[in-house]
Amino acid sequence: MWLSGILLVIVVILLLLTLLLAVFHYSSKGRKYWYFKKVPYREPCPIFGNFGPTFTMRRSYTNMLKYFYEKYKDEKYVGLFQARRPTLMVIDLEMAKRIYSKEFQSFSDRVSVSTDTQREPLLRNLANMGGAEWKAMRHIVTPTFSSAKMKAMFPLIAECAQTLKNVLLKEAVEDINVPSMMTRFTTDVIGSCAFGVDPGSLKNPDSPFLQMSQKMFKIDRATVLKRYCRTFFPRLFKWLNLRSYSSNVETFFTSIINQVLAERRSGVQRHDFLQLMLNEQKTDSGFLMTDALIISNSFIFMLAGLETSATTLSFSLYELAKDQEIQDRVRTEITECLERHDGLNYDAVIAMRLLYQVVAETLRLHPPTPMTTRLCTAPITLDEELTLKVRDPVLIPIHCIQRDPRNFPDPDKFDPDRFADDLNPSGFMAYGEGPRSCPGARFAQLTVAAGLAAILSTFTVEPCERTTPQIQYDPRSVMLKNIGGIWLKFVAK
Ligand code: HEM
Repeated sequence: MWLSGILLVIVVILLLLTLLLAVFHYSSKGRKYWYFKKVPYREPCPIFGNFGPTFTMRRSYTNMLKYFYEKYKDEKYVGLFQARRPTLMVIDLEMAKRIYSKEFQSFSDRVSVSTDTQREPLLRNLANMGGAEWKAMRHIVTPTFSSAKMKAMFPLIAECAQTLKNVLLKEAVEDINVPSMMTRFTTDVIGSCAFGVDPGSLKNPDSPFLQMSQKMFKIDRATVLKRYCRTFFPRLFKWLNLRSYSSNVETFFTSIINQVLAERRSGVQRHDFLQLMLNEQKTDSGFLMTDALIISNSFIFMLAGLETSATTLSFSLYELAKDQEIQDRVRTEITECLERHDGLNYDAVIAMRLLYQVVAETLRLHPPTPMTTRLCTAPITLDEELTLKVRDPVLIPIHCIQRDPRNFPDPDKFDPDRFADDLNPSGFMAYGEGPRSCPGARFAQLTVAAGLAAILSTFTVEPCERTTPQIQYDPRSVMLKNIGGIWLKFVAK
């Protein structure tokens, strides 16, 4: 009797050991990938690769990249492992530029979060698409961001900026939680320009649109784990039937756009992205612009534009609050442009050169998207020692490149004058670069400039007791956010 008990224990132990060995083998298979390619690399840990501290939320993703960048700063690139996946992190600026532009044929896709668009149709959008589908979609989307279209759309942005000013006049009796206020503003802008509705987030912080969009950007532990699983173990993600966004978020936004589409088909017209994509259905460009594609692309505009623009506004205000001299210079320029062009309109905003420099310098210091990726789509020899094959992932650490003293001297100093002669100097890549760069850059700049012009023409912005002396990036978020938020005092002039 006791003999069979012992046998059972031994069998269980052996099974457990086999399982452990299998997991270890699976998670560390390929760990010599960079060694065989003669690429300098970091030895990975099983399961987490080189990103254990990010997974356990001890160190932000950006700080991990910074750590590797510093260690290998004299190399052109370093081989890393994101979980099991070997990834080439580029350090050399010229090589990054070649990957973005000159060698685009070999790097035309981004490392996509999930290709299972049958299960999650909202993910079939411009940012996730690859190959010919991406090219055709990009061809349609790019003209919707032209200067002429932006000029026609600007009154919608200006209206939200006016509401922002009025709401601040009421709420600024207390210190302001800046990212929260700026998210209310950008939610209204994107709702108005991409969805064709008024989310009412500025007037009502409990607005259902705002609540739903905030659910998309939630960064609790469960969400971080889910994203980690989606990125590094996509098969497990599918097998567990996990979803990128909860089904009520999907249903909410899909039904709003369906309603608006029905209204538009009954004759209502508006100068917004939705209308521009709808107009495409009437052309015979050869691309089938279905309702599902209009929905998923409106969704990506929100996903890609809402937090990025709000974060840029928040960091700009933080830097200006700490530097009253620059804030005064910008205010003088804003007042002068508003007077010269009869109020907050497109011509006034594009004349605000120093304001653009402030935004560019903020994006250099705190790029909301601190890195981007490319997937090798055709074999290429990048330099005499390095050949990449199809599906090799490449990572471009935007934040590290923009903080490298070789690209920007005294890189941690907030100095908008470094953009005085050129708003797009070599080494500045907050919107990415090349054919796959951010199509929304111009729209984002107008939104941020309109928000800042409305605020700074009415208030001086100052640090308060809750303002943190330094920015420390939140380890739970890939997008840059300050631990403890950004709190400032808005004093009406
Ligand atoms: C300050 C605000 C913004 C920043 C810093 C930003 C930054 C970026 C970056 C770094 C990329 C990747 C580029 C690359 O891989 O080369 C990107 C892609 C993209 N962004 Fe933005 N973005 C901003 C606002 C917006 C807005 C407002 C929209 C739309 C309304 C938008 C839509 C997109 C889309 C659709 C892509 C994917 C493009 C493609 O794959 O072809 N972004 N953005």
